[in-house]
Amino acid sequence: MFVTVFLLLVTLCAQGGNGEEREEAQRPGHVSVVIVGGTGDLAKKYLWQGFFQLYVNQVSSGNTFSFYGGGLSPADQATSVLFEILKAVSCSKDVSQERCALLKEQFIRLSKYRQLKTLEDYQDLDKHIEQELQQEGILEAGRLFYLSVPAFAYADIADKINSSCRPTSRAWLRVVLEKPFGHDYRSAQVLATQLGSSLKDEEMYRIDHYLGKQVVAKILPFRKENNKFLDPIWNKHHIERVEIVLKETLNVKGRIPFYDQYGVVRDVLQNHLTEVMTLLTARLPMNLSSSEEVLRNKLQIFRSLLPLGKNQAVIGQYQTYKTEVQQELNKTKDHVSVTPTFAAVLAYIDEAQYEGVPILLISGKMLDERVGYARILFKNDMFCLQNHNSIHCKPKQIVFHFGHGSLQYPAVLVSKNLFKPVLMDSEWKEVTEHTDVNVLGLHISDYYVQTPTEPREAYSELISHIFAGRKNSFISTENLLASWGLWTPLLNSLASSFPRIYPGGSDNGDLLDVRVRGKDISYNSEVVIISNDQMGGASAKDFQVMQGKFRSADMVSAWAEELVERLAADMQEAAEAAVREGGVFHLALSGGSTPLALFHRLALHHFSFPWKETHVWMVDERCVPLTELESNFRSLHDHLLQHVRIPYYNIHPMPVQLNQRLCVEEDGGALLYEQEVSKLVNGSSFHFVLLGVGYDAHTASLFPGSKVDELGESLVALTESPIKPHQRMSLTFSAINRAHRVALLVMGKGKHELITQLSRVKDNPDKWPVTGVKPANGRLVWYIDYDALLG
Ligand SMILES: *[C@@H]1O[C@H](CO)[C@@H](O)[C@H](O)[C@H]1NC(C)=O
Ligand SMILES: *[C@@H]1O[C@H](CO)[C@@H](O)[C@H](O)[C@H]1NC(C)=O
Ligand SMILES: *[C@@H]1O[C@H](CO)[C@@H](O)[C@H](O)[C@H]1NC(C)=O
Ligand SMILES: *[C@@H]1O[C@H](CO)[C@@H](O)[C@H](O)[C@H]1NC(C)=O
Repeated sequence: MFVTVFLLLVTLCAQGGNGEEREEAQRPGHVSVVIVGGTGDLAKKYLWQGFFQLYVNQVSSGNTFSFYGGGLSPADQATSVLFEILKAVSCSKDVSQERCALLKEQFIRLSKYRQLKTLEDYQDLDKHIEQELQQEGILEAGRLFYLSVPAFAYADIADKINSSCRPTSRAWLRVVLEKPFGHDYRSAQVLATQLGSSLKDEEMYRIDHYLGKQVVAKILPFRKENNKFLDPIWNKHHIERVEIVLKETLNVKGRIPFYDQYGVVRDVLQNHLTEVMTLLTARLPMNLSSSEEVLRNKLQIFRSLLPLGKNQAVIGQYQTYKTEVQQELNKTKDHVSVTPTFAAVLAYIDEAQYEGVPILLISGKMLDERVGYARILFKNDMFCLQNHNSIHCKPKQIVFHFGHGSLQYPAVLVSKNLFKPVLMDSEWKEVTEHTDVNVLGLHISDYYVQTPTEPREAYSELISHIFAGRKNSFISTENLLASWGLWTPLLNSLASSFPRIYPGGSDNGDLLDVRVRGKDISYNSEVVIISNDQMGGASAKDFQVMQGKFRSADMVSAWAEELVERLAADMQEAAEAAVREGGVFHLALSGGSTPLALFHRLALHHFSFPWKETHVWMVDERCVPLTELESNFRSLHDHLLQHVRIPYYNIHPMPVQLNQRLCVEEDGGALLYEQEVSKLVNGSSFHFVLLGVGYDAHTASLFPGSKVDELGESLVALTESPIKPHQRMSLTFSAINRAHRVALLVMGKGKHELITQLSRVKDNPDKWPVTGVKPANGRLVWYIDYDALLG
């Protein structure tokens, strides 16, 4: 027994010639592979083939295998279905027919169908595995569960695996999951928490099959190997723009119940295209085999991406989609879906290296051709006086061609006016014989072209990574949530937009062409085809801004987007007026989540805002270090300050941390802030104070029942919040009510009850602090969105 194991170890070590394979040293032994959903479409099309490939590659590695196809049907019904699938697996070209037949026969013999429905089924499976191990007298190496089932079933299956199918002792457990991983940030977080109670992070393998595509997997190695050419030009001075494009010709007929809830942004942009973007822009890892470093560098990109607002996206929907929805979802003729089937999104990375470089992410159904690529277009400063056709004057670009399109095969293309790339490795070859095609504006002969020597299926590639325990081509929980953090606000703001309707195929013509202007993207052509009933029940006047009175003060109301736009415009007007008059604008801003939309708007659109003359003050702060995510200042920094050109010395965070402790009375932080205000702000009267209001009617950090109206003349005070963190620093009513202008921003359906209540109650700041906002000589304006106003 010991002798056998020893020999197996020797075999494995002798085989694992390149360091990567041995990255996570695993002891050889028995491996159980369980495909839950083993007779489903994905399993049939890719997974069994992938595991067969794995089996063939591992057959002399010292590992032994058993394969289980699991499903809800009883074995007597499904066994024959599985058998048909297994019969269809095939060998790669380099395996002889005879050997292939033998391997297939072995593989089929090792594969069984099992009903996996109840907890008992999983317990039985576990018992079965243990028995086999004992009978054969072999050590267990690990268990691999591939969940090829709808996402709603993940948590339950993961729980069953944890409670009954964990291998004993040192054997590994790996559980593979397919997208969708949630629908937005919150649902992704809920799913992650549920899975986290059953599985450790290192046991989870979230698949994005794009990362298994040969060209996608080569992006980082290509960048590394050609670093001596790329390093000087991989930056804002040389890159004109980056395009990441996945065009499809198919419609989504038959998949509507799924698709209509997701749409192209969730289906393609949030995952596949975002992953490619991070691979193109992440800092080059020192060690490409270190999953930790690769994932960390990718995560850093999410932290640096500017927020995506409504003006950074255009959406479309193919014309027959509406009818397909009506049919498949059993809806009436007046049902309108605004789910986009096409989207073009403009992203910017706020790092010195990429500042101002537009990154376009584009995908759609029913387009003119099927193709996927990422293109880095470089600036070309050449002017050819005589020979305009000289290569020097042609586009300078690198194209990662994932597949299909005019080229038909996956390839990395470097235009000859850039450099001759290093040949990557023996698995890649240079192509010198070309058919007569153009790729993205250049004839193929104007490129250096490299292609994989042998095409490999993405799933097979990823399955071999899972087996080797290499995690760099999978999505970690942290990266997943960061990606949803980027996309969720955009999805929310698009929820009320109507997509442009396009006819589909080559008839689309230039209808979906987009142009980038500053930080905005828009359709190039102004014509919008809106079929008569496309607007549904909404008419144009529903989207306008309305003015009125609320609690005998002025009120502006509109849908969220327009409301924020209006508030931003009002704020800019006030700023310009103050600067004209006194050369300076004193602005006090609240924390909380409501103003974030305003901050994004200001950061992305108000380039003419007089930031240089603006002083930014805090309305309130939580007693935590300024660098904590909970800090209002941190939030203000992340969402606004870091994106605008405001002098550092105009920024005034509240001194909540003094003498290395937080908000201690005798440290005098509140007084300090008050003195700073008195010194810099004429008459301690801010030009503009932005406030929000909480569900309990608190405003600033002035909470109900805390006698906040009794703070007298002091401008700044330490206060107590009923929710954590309890300690706060806040401007008082004395400070707020001295302001020239106060804006109270209220948004969201959740605030409707509160607004109804506030419309009726008398002033009572002790009970409803917000009713204490009464500027003595200034003007109060309520900005209330329709959701909050109308419920
Ligand atoms: C798995 O189940 C056990 C109880 O059977 C529990 O203690 C553990 O926290 C669960 N989760 C993980 C990640 O092991
Ligand atoms: C690179 O990372 C792998 C995996 O973490 C590790 O085994 C290897 O030693 C590292 N190589 C270097 C040169 O640090
Ligand atoms: C469609 O609606 C009809 C009538 O309400 C119902 O009988 C039928 O089962 C529905 N079909 C689907 C697919 O929901
Ligand atoms: C300060 O405010 C007072 C009263 O509002 C005003 O008369 C004076 O001009 C202001 N001073 C400056 C420097 O703006």
